[in-house]
Amino acid sequence: MVNYSLQGKTALVTGGTRGIGAAIVAKLLAGGATVVTTSRTPVDNLPAGVHYVQADLGTPEGATQLAEQTLEHFGGKLDILVNNAASGQAHPQGAASIPDDEWRSALDTSYLSAVRVTSRLLASLLESRGAIVNISSAVTLEVVPALAHYAAAKAALEKYSQTLAAELAPQGVRLNVVIPGNVLTPGADKIRQDIADAAGIPLEAMTAGTPLGRAGIPTDIAEAVGFLVSDQAEWITGSQLLVDGGASVGLAA
Ligand SMILES: NC(=O)c1ccc[n+]([C@@H]2O[C@H](COP(=O)([O-])OP(=O)(O)OC[C@H]3O[C@@H](n4cnc5c(N)ncnc54)[C@H](OP(=O)(O)O)[C@@H]3O)[C@@H](O)[C@H]2O)c1
Repeated sequence: MVNYSLQGKTALVTGGTRGIGAAIVAKLLAGGATVVTTSRTPVDNLPAGVHYVQADLGTPEGATQLAEQTLEHFGGKLDILVNNAASGQAHPQGAASIPDDEWRSALDTSYLSAVRVTSRLLASLLESRGAIVNISSAVTLEVVPALAHYAAAKAALEKYSQTLAAELAPQGVRLNVVIPGNVLTPGADKIRQDIADAAGIPLEAMTAGTPLGRAGIPTDIAEAVGFLVSDQAEWITGSQLLVDGGASVGLAA
């Protein structure tokens, strides 16, 4: 593994207390960045030196609180923003069964959270000519009725990201999207278990059989993020990097 140098850089990673977010926090720390992270539920096992802010990013107030405390901690300077936090639940009976408040919640937690946090921190990112990575999902490339609300929110995130990347490029801020496939994490495993139970299939069937022969692990995603926020990616913006073991690109035999 390569640890691209992030010495002197300040970074905010949302949802860094477990799963993919925790791996991204570890990757940025390994490169020498100083890191702030956030979640709704405080934990006591964060790596040394990580500054924690408790906030619910499903609300505008939570995004404001996080942005203010991040800038306060870093003295107003932010170089790297990774919008990773997202949450939701499966609706195994399909898209038509998803209630109105769940559609709204999906948009708030899996799309507008990133929009709000980015907007509130944009002045600082422009000042530092920083780098943003938004974490989407390969569910945008598939049809998964149980996750229609989440897929719609992530599709919106991808379009927003493309548009904002074009706006920010002339001002020196890069914005890229990483699109994970099935990655073994606490949050996603619960969602997949609910879908597997409803379908009467084992959990393993949900994650088996990528062309590269295994399900993803959080560090697979963190490696991609670590590169995209580094100076080695200085000519990359507006991209969507699919990290899914080949599952979504027709490689299956
Ligand atoms: N794992 C996969 O297979 C997979 C596949 C495609 C895309 N993704 C994407 O990858 C990202 C990370 O997923 P994961 O599987 O690592 O999830 P996870 O294990 O559930 O971790 C999610 C993290 O985000 C935080 N979070 C969730 N909702 C939040 C909110 N409203 N406000 C603040 N923090 C919040 C969680 O803490 P609290 O719950 O305490 O708030 C936790 O730290 C998400 O954007 C997800 O959509 C994952």
